[in-house]
Amino acid sequence: MTDKKHLLIVFHSKTGKNGRMAESVHQGAQDPDIDVEVRFLKAGDADAQDLLWADGIVFGSPENFGYMSGALKDFFDRTFYEVEGQVDGKPYCIFVGAGNDGTGALTAIRRICMGYHFKEIQPPVIVPGELSDATLRSCYELGMAMGAGLEAGVF
Ligand SMILES: Cc1cc2nc3c(=O)[nH]c(=O)nc-3n(C[C@H](O)[C@H](O)[C@H](O)COP(=O)(O)O)c2cc1C
Repeated sequence: MTDKKHLLIVFHSKTGKNGRMAESVHQGAQDPDIDVEVRFLKAGDADAQDLLWADGIVFGSPENFGYMSGALKDFFDRTFYEVEGQVDGKPYCIFVGAGNDGTGALTAIRRICMGYHFKEIQPPVIVPGELSDATLRSCYELGMAMGAGLEAGVF
């Protein structure tokens, strides 16, 4: 049994962009200065037990048809009633790798997270168009901030 804090990264990616963003978030959360336990899961592989396990969550999705990906929406559909009332106040943040501004996916994820009573604790990372070293660095820093904040108990 460990007393490390638990970070869940749950994401969907069809063509790889959000997968690369998720990997950078994961690396940031595993920065040498940070000591948290991480679950790194595709949305289709994650379930309610992962949300109950997590002390904090990072959600990642493309924007599809002006909304989050169906896979991430399915994760929310499969877990809401199973965890209702047991995850209130858990800190979370979002990344979106989209074709355009990602607003539709961001707004949809935030609205659903309000239903879970999660607490957004970092500004989202939104990447329209191509990834760059700078935008991947932003993802790394998102993971690092989540990991460090969880470890320090500041959320
Ligand atoms: C079916 C489909 C619908 C999409 N709809 C949107 C959209 O409404 N707005 C947008 O900005 N990008 C849209 N895109 C583009 C994706 O969000 C973008 O290519 C994203 O980077 C894909 O991420 P991935 O490589 O992680 O799968 C769409 C892509 C697909 C496949």
